[in-house]
Amino acid sequence: MDLLSPLVLTLTLVAANNDDVRAGRHLFNDPGLGTHGVACANCHATVADENADGDGLIRSGHTLYGAAQRPFWRGDRDRKVHENLSTAVDVCSELFQGSPPLKGQDRLQLHAYLASLGGSAKTRPIEIQPSLESDLNYDRPKYKTGRPKQGRALFYQSCHGCHPNGGAGIAPAVLALPIARVIEKLREGNGLLRGKQVAGEWSPFFGKDRLSDQQAADIAAWIVSQETKAP
Ligand code: HEC
Ligand code: HEC
Repeated sequence: MDLLSPLVLTLTLVAANNDDVRAGRHLFNDPGLGTHGVACANCHATVADENADGDGLIRSGHTLYGAAQRPFWRGDRDRKVHENLSTAVDVCSELFQGSPPLKGQDRLQLHAYLASLGGSAKTRPIEIQPSLESDLNYDRPKYKTGRPKQGRALFYQSCHGCHPNGGAGIAPAVLALPIARVIEKLREGNGLLRGKQVAGEWSPFFGKDRLSDQQAADIAAWIVSQETKAP
């Protein structure tokens, strides 16, 4: 019995850990977590290489593979604001999901899941690549040469989840909007990157490594081409 107890204890801990990871995975995929109806999984993949192993969707946020091993988050090199991964996650809960920061058991379980995704001590921080135009004017020639056919595919990969078929879903309809407005929202989301979040808005931004200027133009071209089908 004396010999067995450490084994039993270890097994119990492993089992508890697996339970935490499983519960954390459910939280990660739960659109009911906040009031906006959007899950972490809507905006973040969990695979190491999205091109090779992804599901084909283009999400606004980067993959969270290795996130627990990153040296810092959200560009906070000195970890002054985001001391650990959980405080970095809190921003998304509040800003994007309309949820108070997760507490207690939920917080630990979500962390256990993120830590289980993998990564190593050599994991590098991610760099957000905002693509705001210098004068915040998106009425530019480069956004007017989009290709609707490519844009349709890209729209379904990156926007359809929240704007189903371009109509209203958990977010409002986008059909019939001018190109400059489409690009502005795609690049700025709720205005946070501009340093000014629009009250009540929560849409995410897509940096240029998520969607290039050409791809953004393609999406806008498809949306505009659908104008007559607006509800
Ligand atoms: C509506 C979209 C959206 C939702 C929902 C969302 N995020 Fe994010 N998240 C982003 C964007 C955009 C960024 C900034 C770009 C980036 O860092 O990938 C970000 C950044 C992060 C970062 C910082 C990454 C780093 O290393 O700097 C973490 C960690 C994170 N999110 C975790 C989560 C978790 C966990 C959830 C669910 C509780 C969540 N996010 C929900 C869009 C979202
Ligand atoms: C995670 C959900 C989500 C995704 C993905 C998303 N949006 Fe949105 N979008 C919103 C929300 C929510 C709003 C309402 C305004 C706000 O809260 O910022 C919105 C508003 C907009 C608007 C402004 C509508 C208006 O009436 O002026 C445009 C344009 C837009 N989105 C374009 C896009 C495009 C293009 C994509 C894909 C590249 C996209 N969105 C992906 C959530 C999303």
